[in-house]
Amino acid sequence: MIGRASVPRSTTEGEPDDVTVRKRVPHRTDGGEAARARAHQPETDSDPDVLISARGLTKEFGDFVAVDGIDIDVRRGEAFGFLGPNGAGKSSTMRMIGCVSPLTEGSLTLFGMDPEADGPAIRGRLGVVPQKDLLDEELTVRENLLVYGRYFGLSRSVVAGRADELLRFAQLSDRADSPVEPLSGGMKRRLTIARALINAPEILLLDEPTTGLDPQARHVLWDRLYRLKQQGVTLVLTTHYMDEAEQLCDRLVVMDGGRIVAEGSPRELIERYSSREVVEVRYPDFDLEPHRDQLDLGDLAERVEVLPDRLLIYTHDGDAVSRIVDQSPDRPVSVLVRRSSLEDVFLQLTGRSLAG
Ligand SMILES: Nc1ncnc2c1ncn2[C@@H]1O[C@H](COP(=O)(O)OP(=O)(O)OP(=O)(O)O)[C@@H](O)[C@H]1O
Ligand SMILES: [Mg+2]
Repeated sequence: MIGRASVPRSTTEGEPDDVTVRKRVPHRTDGGEAARARAHQPETDSDPDVLISARGLTKEFGDFVAVDGIDIDVRRGEAFGFLGPNGAGKSSTMRMIGCVSPLTEGSLTLFGMDPEADGPAIRGRLGVVPQKDLLDEELTVRENLLVYGRYFGLSRSVVAGRADELLRFAQLSDRADSPVEPLSGGMKRRLTIARALINAPEILLLDEPTTGLDPQARHVLWDRLYRLKQQGVTLVLTTHYMDEAEQLCDRLVVMDGGRIVAEGSPRELIERYSSREVVEVRYPDFDLEPHRDQLDLGDLAERVEVLPDRLLIYTHDGDAVSRIVDQSPDRPVSVLVRRSSLEDVFLQLTGRSLAG
């Protein structure tokens, strides 16, 4: 039996340090007060199935508000997502939930416990996949799992058994004894997820699990995460890929500028904030406003967005719009009818494209 050591804190290594803050002009002025007001509200939710509960959760770096008084409840067994563009505050939120970054304001409980008072006990029940892989490149694939497992005070035989099982789960058994350094990005990501599972966590926190991976590697990871969810692991993930959020999340919040701008299941969000279909129209020139103005769509168009490279026509009848566009004097380069997505939700809510 190996003596119990403190739970790894390596999840914060290489990530911005709370003490080296950059002073910035606050991007808003009302958030702190709203958060403080909410923070004084009594906790009413004592449902044991609510594993993570935050009220007025706020993170400030100097005078810059990175997370601006957000409220969330994550229930046992669900896959919960934070969808938002770069700088939305997703990682800052995840580090608070991971009990490695103190809150500035508000309240947060995990398993009904307070991160400040019960950090080690909570971290022992969490698996953390940080935005950047922090694997030990000097060690082999298997050694990475063994060393990490020992931090949790697990016996050598338990860790060895779990390591074998997790190597199979991550499809890395044949690479078990190779060093980490030459692995592909997708393999390293799978190893990081395997490592985060060594303590059999009840909640797995994944900060951008598939950023930078090719489509095939992303699908393999989605499949692994789906299996974990089937096994009852609660997944909390961040992403700026709308398809990832749609594939994986039962429920998600859309974050922008440190705030939650919408919440619901992917389908609910699309129904609430977008039309049934979208017609994407491209023209051979760059000034698209005149093209929009000459289209006579009447009631068919609920809304038209002019993006730099295309028009997006939001409608309940894509085929009818497509016929009108085709018959118009301006000749489009392409007309595509598709279903609405979370990208459209984000555009409607923020006036910006999620892709930046
Ligand atoms: N340690 C820090 N010191 C100062 N500012 C920080 C620190 N960490 C994050 N920030 C700022 O807080 C804001 C939110 O950052 P965060 O990393 O949480 O965003 P994100 O949604 O995870 O973005 P990305 O998609 O790029 O990972 C950004 O403007 C970032 O520059
Ligand atoms: Mg991030």
